[in-house]
Amino acid sequence: MASIAPIAPNAREQLIDRGRARKRGGIAPLFEMDNERFARFSAQHEDMRLDYSKTALSDDDLAALMAHARAMDLEARRNAMFAGERINLTEDRAVLHVALRGRISDGYATDGKPVGHDVERVLAAMSEFATGIRLGEVRSATGERFTDVVNIGIGGSDLGPAMATLALAPYHDGPRLHFVSNVDGAHIADTLKGLEPGRTLFIVASKTFTTVETMTNAATARRFIVAALGEDAVGAHFCAVSTALDKIRAFGIAPERSFGFWDWVGGRYSLWSAIGLPLMIATGAHGFREFLAGGRAMDQHFRDAPMERNLPMLLGLTGWWHRVAQEYPARAVIPYDQRLARLPAYLQQLDMESNGKSIGLDGKPVTGPTGPLVWGEPGTNGQHAFFQLLHQGSDVVPIEFLVAATAQESGMDEHHDLLLANCLAQSEALVKGRTLDEARAQVLAAGRSAEEAERIAPHRTFSGNRPSITIAYRRLDPYTLGRLIALYEHRVFVEAQLFGINAYDQWGVELGKELAVALLPAIKGEVDENDVSPLTRGLFKAITALR
Ligand code: F6P
Repeated sequence: MASIAPIAPNAREQLIDRGRARKRGGIAPLFEMDNERFARFSAQHEDMRLDYSKTALSDDDLAALMAHARAMDLEARRNAMFAGERINLTEDRAVLHVALRGRISDGYATDGKPVGHDVERVLAAMSEFATGIRLGEVRSATGERFTDVVNIGIGGSDLGPAMATLALAPYHDGPRLHFVSNVDGAHIADTLKGLEPGRTLFIVASKTFTTVETMTNAATARRFIVAALGEDAVGAHFCAVSTALDKIRAFGIAPERSFGFWDWVGGRYSLWSAIGLPLMIATGAHGFREFLAGGRAMDQHFRDAPMERNLPMLLGLTGWWHRVAQEYPARAVIPYDQRLARLPAYLQQLDMESNGKSIGLDGKPVTGPTGPLVWGEPGTNGQHAFFQLLHQGSDVVPIEFLVAATAQESGMDEHHDLLLANCLAQSEALVKGRTLDEARAQVLAAGRSAEEAERIAPHRTFSGNRPSITIAYRRLDPYTLGRLIALYEHRVFVEAQLFGINAYDQWGVELGKELAVALLPAIKGEVDENDVSPLTRGLFKAITALR
């Protein structure tokens, strides 16, 4: 395992001083001083461009940031991940999701054991099954083709396939896909309402195969099939994805309908594994392989490109700069790409479950902030909702825009021209701002009186100098989606190294789960309500009085 370099407090403090100073200095002057800023503060991977010129980073800041990253052994730690070392220290596991999109010849291994053949074996089994469903060769208990596939899972066993299936809608030529995650019965009830049992296949997706939401929804789906088609139909209408193949068998799903993965794949990094089965059923094995190829291309870039031109490194470094050196608590992800509507939700898990920690690798509280609050919605919709705050609110939120150069659909150029113009205009407006003089002149030019101009103009000013990053790519195809998701995975890795935390456990989700288990007997009326914790008792009684 690569050694953990001691945090260089001086370098870090100096970067924080620089970050604070840059807040005052602003972004627009950096452009005024340098005609080549875009060329030097952007980086390219194939057709994908990462533009970080609209941040407050100067050349010196960037150099200092990279020196700090190197002093923290960032590159060695990256190499340790690729080498299959057990970098997930608190769970004593390797972190090798890169192997899921690798080739056998890439030689990925952990504990001295190559993993490529196992990965290929599962991919081949998935392909055979998905192709059988798509061609109508795998049939239901009633002998019908499956027209609808319902993925039952939550967190990493839901968000990835749901996000990717929507993102790749133009490539979706298989059966209809549905995603059920919430334990709220409304979710599965609404989903099942429109479905024909004799033509519906369920995928039960759970890394652990113990998650209460998924098991509860799977049991409800099972009753749906049994009620319509009888107990014997269960085998034909269910398949499962998990690392716990024994538990799948206990549920009554046959081994040939079970697709495994491994403990070196974190739930939120599992879309590339058998958890991606819904995407493969939707787009075909070829589409899924293209998606994997995109991920692999970004892995190679992350591993081999110098830090100065390395997209995940640069995205991670700017993320750290915004969070730690400039002390911005949040970042917004705004895809000007309607089909990436679920990307912010996907990234919330990827980023916040990974880096929402405050204990360092040495077991001590970390100094300073860690992962930011991540949120977002597609543009242009967001412009008509929360962009007001982004432009004039009292908090500055760095934004990440994503946009494709070309539309998928022919005949939609008018739409795409507008989409692109809006995306570019937003990042420009955020930096440019509008002074009081400019606002006053605008009001006067609209024919209002001088008195009105004085009154209204302050409301029409924009402070400007609000940072954003833009990721632009030619088209949202499976390969590009693969690159995008791998880019974000590696950025989370980079930031985690600089924060000094383990990105790969998620103990923070446990306490709430434990308390829910403890509360259930009281909710079912099996124990005295006075046994409920005083923290919850009052609210508990108020709610139960309404039942
Ligand atoms: O509760 C958090 C979590 O463990 C996530 O990390 C995971 O993606 C999700 O639950 C679902 O877990 P599983 O795939 O084991 O059902």
